[in-house]
Amino acid sequence: MKHLVAPSILSADFANLQQEIEMVNNSEADWFHIDVMDGNFVPNITFGMPVIKAMKKHANKPFDVHLMIEKPERYINDFKEAGADILTVHYEASTHLHRTIQQIKEAGMKAGVAINPHTSVFLLEDILSEIDLVTIMSVNPGFGGQKFIENTFVKVEDLKEMAEEINPNLYIEIDGGVTNANAYDLVEAGANVLVAGSFVFNSKNPVDTIKDLKHL
Ligand code: DX5
Ligand code: ZN
Repeated sequence: MKHLVAPSILSADFANLQQEIEMVNNSEADWFHIDVMDGNFVPNITFGMPVIKAMKKHANKPFDVHLMIEKPERYINDFKEAGADILTVHYEASTHLHRTIQQIKEAGMKAGVAINPHTSVFLLEDILSEIDLVTIMSVNPGFGGQKFIENTFVKVEDLKEMAEEINPNLYIEIDGGVTNANAYDLVEAGANVLVAGSFVFNSKNPVDTIKDLKHL
């Protein structure tokens, strides 16, 4: 599978969201990556359902919603209504993860699980056949513009190997510090979705930057 590129709206200009969305619409990006933070699971707070709903009106690509919130199971239907197509919860934030995954799928979305840098990919073995996507965090979640953690490569390789056995169609998404310096090697290692926030939105020409990430 050709890899996908998902620009992270976290680094967009929030005062010009419609313009930023149109930029992504007109680029080679595949998904919108949307980071929801609660000031509890992570130190930062971003936005919630009303902002996602407003963005959805202008967007023409799927919404990959990354929940960095405690007990995400409380809000599954709300995010569906707001426009999420893929809903990703953190392994560390949902005690009854299996049930949460089933609820996401029953609500009609693809289900993802994100893992923090300290969480082993092998902890996902018993849930891997049930999910559509794994987000390997390559920074500690909470902020854009952080430095990529190199140990991510080993995790991608291990997850890829496990996915080949258990779930060959799995999306292996990398989130945090992705640039043209590591994108090619990540895809070589087995990643098939690259999230990029600051690298895209802080560049001179975001449409070209997205294109560069797409054509490695
Ligand atoms: C971090 C978020 C990321 C963030 C990535 O907690 O999950 O999606 O936007 O930003 P960059 O690409 O700047 O590291
Ligand atoms: Zn994210």
